Parts: sequence; C-alpha cells; structure tokens
Amino acid sequence: MRVTEPDAAAIARAAELLRAGELVALPTETVYGLGADALNPAAVGRIFAAKGRPADHPLIVHLPDAEHLVRWARAIPKEAIALARAFWPGPLTLILKREEGVPDEVTGGQDTVGLRVPDHPVALALLAAFGSGIAAPSANRFGRISPTTATHVVEELGDKVALVLDGGPCQVGIESTILDLSRDTPEILRPGAVSADDIARVIGRRPAVKGETAAAAEEPAPRVSGALAAHYAPGTPLRLVPAAMLTEEAAALAGEGSRVAVLARSVEDPEDARFLWHAAPADPKGYAHDLYASLRMLDASGADFILVEALPDSPDWRAIADRLGRAAVGSGEADET
Ligand code: TXA
Ligand code: MG
Repeated sequence: MRVTEPDAAAIARAAELLRAGELVALPTETVYGLGADALNPAAVGRIFAAKGRPADHPLIVHLPDAEHLVRWARAIPKEAIALARAFWPGPLTLILKREEGVPDEVTGGQDTVGLRVPDHPVALALLAAFGSGIAAPSANRFGRISPTTATHVVEELGDKVALVLDGGPCQVGIESTILDLSRDTPEILRPGAVSADDIARVIGRRPAVKGETAAAAEEPAPRVSGALAAHYAPGTPLRLVPAAMLTEEAAALAGEGSRVAVLARSVEDPEDARFLWHAAPADPKGYAHDLYASLRMLDASGADFILVEALPDSPDWRAIADRLGRAAVGSGEADET
C-alpha cells in the first residue's frame, strides 16, 4: 500500500486505480472511506473482503454532485432535493429507491441505495476525476473504530488497499447522518452531525429517529451495520461512567491492580500516576473531531479498561453518545470480527 499526498498526479492515479477495479482509501469530512467503483461488482466485492464485512450490508455511494442523483435513485421525493441542496456537500446520507443498474453488491440486495456528496476537497477532486459513484464504507475492519487519519487506515487495512490519499485529519470525526427517505415517514437510521432538527428545518417535518420509537425496534434484520449494538469498538473493554463516579471507579480498578485509561470531559485530572487520563474537548464538535483518535490511543496504551465519562443527555451529544454506546457493547473482543 502507498500513502500519498493528494496532489493532481495522485488524484489522477487514484481515479485510474478505481477504473481498474482497485481499492483506494480517501479522506472525507466525516471519516476515511474505502472506495471502489460502485458500478463494478468485482471491485465492490473487494471492499467486503478487505473489511471482513458481511456481504448483505449495503454501502454508501459517494457522488461528485447532486446532479448525479438521478443516475442512482428513482422516485426521488422533493424532500431529498431540498436536503441535498441544503446539506451537500456534507455529512448527510440519503436512502432512496435505487435506479436500475445499481449493483446488488452495493445495496445488499435491497431496493434502496445510500447516497451522499462528501465535503472534502480531496474526495471531491477524486470524484470529479473519476466521474461516477464511489462506493465507500469507513476504511476500518468490520466492527472496529472508524479511521480519521491516513495512519489509522494503514493500521486497519495494511496492504489491502492499493493507495491511500492522505487528506489530513477528518474535520467532523464521526460518520454521516443516515436518513431513510425511501418510505412514507423519513427516519434517521444513524445519527450524525446533521441533526433531526436540522432536517426538520428544511423539510418542515421532524424525521423519526431509529431506536426512539417502539415501532423502529420491531424492524427485522439490521439494514445499517452502524446500527448494530456492537460497533465502533476498541479491543479494550470500555465502560461509560457518570462524571460523579469517574475518579472513584478508576481508583477502584487501579486498586485491584488493573491498568486504567480514562477519557474525561468535565472531570479534572486527579493526577494519579496509576491512570492514563485523557481530557477530551468539552464541546460536541471538538469531542467528535478527536473521539476516534483518542479511542485508538487509549486502546493502544496497554490499559485493561477504558473508562469514558458519560455525556450530557442533549441533542448536541446524541450522535456521539450513539457511537460510544456501541463502542462499549462491542469492546474487549479483539480480532473476533
Ligand atoms: O460518513 C460516512 O457515512 C462514511 C464516509 C466514508 O462517507 N461512510 C460510512 O460507511 O460510514 P459505512 O459503510 O461504514 O456505513 C454506512 C452505513 C452502513 O451502516 C450501511 O448499512 C448503511 O450505511 N446503508 C448503506 N446503504 C443503505 C441502504 N440502502 N439502506 C439502509 N442502510 C444503508
Ligand atoms: Mg463503518
């Protein structure tokens, strides 16, 4: 694998590799993606092999611009056009009825497709050079922490990808909001930087949020792997602890001889040499930006436990709380995915 500065030559080379059916890792504003030509089933198959991801999990197709929507989706509701206009390029994925010719390998055999235009100059340059849709899940092994730097991609995928375009650290830091517009009621399948309120302001009604209503819980097989209870997980057991108990809990574990890493937000560092204490930004944007890099660092520290200070229960923190909840459930199962 080669990691490269994303100059014009590298972008041209990446587009060539995509045309040849190879995998290219690309930066987006959310996380790094593992990209392949979305119209080439064999190339898309390589994504699943590289990630170790179940083949029925659909992929997001990244588009050069909103004009490309009509090539991938049909029966496009007005709300989709309004949202694309408001948030693209940006961290919002729209689930729409798929157009003919969109491969089953991309959609997991469903009659819908996930589409977004990413807000990153390198991704947009590559998409423009390639001129078609790039299927790209997050560039991590299945179930693991999404990469927010080119180095993370290398850690995750070793030599399974032909080229990594290094676009620096991702600005947003957590994956896009996924909004299902393929059925009567818009529903957020995965929360992200674009909130239910942001969406409501554009379409004039508030989307349902998966997990918030009883009906959503009754749905069959997971359509969103990011919605599996265990996901985004470090190998070290991770636990969420209320602020008031954070220091006490860390001390108790250290007292039993465990090595403890802490991701704090508001609780001050007790400067106890037995802990690796990491202070996260106190605001949701900063917190999301640093989250995955911090989790990787704490995971690699050799700690027996990662304690994470529980987050405020407010809309601003919802998407981050979602990721941390899943990280807690999936943690401590190194290399089982
Ligand atoms: O921010 C992001 O969305 C990043 C960057 C690279 O764009 N991508 C990302 O991809 O997070 P991935 O594959 O790790 O997560 C995409 C999610 C999956 O959980 C998948 O199940 C869901 O999108 N998805 C894709 N197409 C879908 C569809 N037709 N219906 C329901 N869910 C879909
Ligand atoms: Mg992912």
